[in-house]
Amino acid sequence: MIAIDGPSGAGKGTLARTVAERLGYTHVDTGAMYRAVAWKALEEGVPLDNDGLVANLASRARYQQQADGTITIDGHDVTKAIRTPEMDKAAASVARLPKVRAVLVGQQQDMGKDGAVVMEGRDIGTVVFPKADLKLYIDASAEERARRRAADPTHTASNMTNVQYDMAARDKSDSTRQVGALSKADDAVYIDTTSMPIEQVVHHVLMLITDKLE
Ligand code: DC
Repeated sequence: MIAIDGPSGAGKGTLARTVAERLGYTHVDTGAMYRAVAWKALEEGVPLDNDGLVANLASRARYQQQADGTITIDGHDVTKAIRTPEMDKAAASVARLPKVRAVLVGQQQDMGKDGAVVMEGRDIGTVVFPKADLKLYIDASAEERARRRAADPTHTASNMTNVQYDMAARDKSDSTRQVGALSKADDAVYIDTTSMPIEQVVHHVLMLITDKLE
């Protein structure tokens, strides 16, 4: 189990996907699970601040992440729909709810139990898999993260000022919530990717994995 945590736009997604491909591991994007649950709650008219109702919906939903990156919930392809500024906000709301987190953390522990998994999120090394073989905390400056998010072809975004503003609000929400807040595990390797091209980050991480797992 390789646990990758960090704020949005730091490069976790590309890193986790590439490392999983190279190792033949399964990639699990837990942020997409919070997004898909938020999408489903909006679809069903469930209030995004009702922990009990959203948790119930999350425990009934069938969530799947396919190898090509397609995300489905109850058979609906939501790959594109969950990556909009509105869904950034909706996902951050449901991610604050303790019962919802408990349900999703349980599902994530189940998905990772065979070990050959690269799982990315905010609380993977701290809560979901505190005994992961390797923990990484991927970071970058706020400006660089906003720039990457604005340039991300899989994510609809408005102008840079809005991206930076929204991201700051989500950073605050992610790091101040009471359960599963974003924080670096004591034994996680910290990597600042602000001025590193992604290939260099991948190379560095593959070296760490070779050292750790052999
Ligand atoms: O990584 P992302 O931006 O797709 O995540 C969407 C939201 O879900 C974001 O507000 C952070 C939250 N999240 C979380 O609380 N815990 C995780 N393990 C993954 C994401």
